Amino acid sequence: MNVERKKVVTHSPAETRQLAAELLRELRPGAVLALHGDLGAGKTCFVQGLAAALGVHQAVSSPTFVLIHEYPGTPPLYHADLYRIRDADDALGLGIEEYFKSDGITVIEWAERAAELLPPDTWHLTFEVGADLTERTITIECPNLNRNS
Ligand SMILES: Nc1ncnc2c1ncn2[C@@H]1O[C@H](COP(=O)(O)OP(=O)(O)OP(=O)(O)O)[C@@H](O)[C@H]1O
Ligand SMILES: [Mg+2]
Repeated sequence: MNVERKKVVTHSPAETRQLAAELLRELRPGAVLALHGDLGAGKTCFVQGLAAALGVHQAVSSPTFVLIHEYPGTPPLYHADLYRIRDADDALGLGIEEYFKSDGITVIEWAERAAELLPPDTWHLTFEVGADLTERTITIECPNLNRNS
């Protein structure tokens, strides 16, 4: 997959997980992915696909209470969900910028809550519910495009 800005339509959770596994091949260690989209749009499903492709054996769910989960993979996966924070100051309190400096893959649901903290080379993925219950449109913006714009 060679993306700058790309729209993909998936028709099942399995297809969304597969998309994550394909995108992973494009990511360098240290990549940061910001996931946008409403409740139930498929963000956590996508993270489950990343985790499986990284060889994570634990079950992946939204990190509702601790806000950031760390999974030992190759490279490690850091999964944050900022739904419950108010603003970037709260995210700083979580030490989120330490993850941005790491060599792991950092993926953040509701990343817009901490928009100003995101590195300039963050990938942005937007999840939208489609015409039927299992259709999702996922817009992928890769950092090369962001740098040029
Ligand atoms: N094509 C699809 N891709 C992903 N999920 C799908 C798809 N079709 C149906 N679903 C269902 O939609 C739901 C997506 O839930 P998920 O927890 O991934 O959403 P989310 O975006 O993380 O929401 P939240 O903001 O509440 O964390 C799941 O129940 C999943 O089974
Ligand atoms: Mg979620």
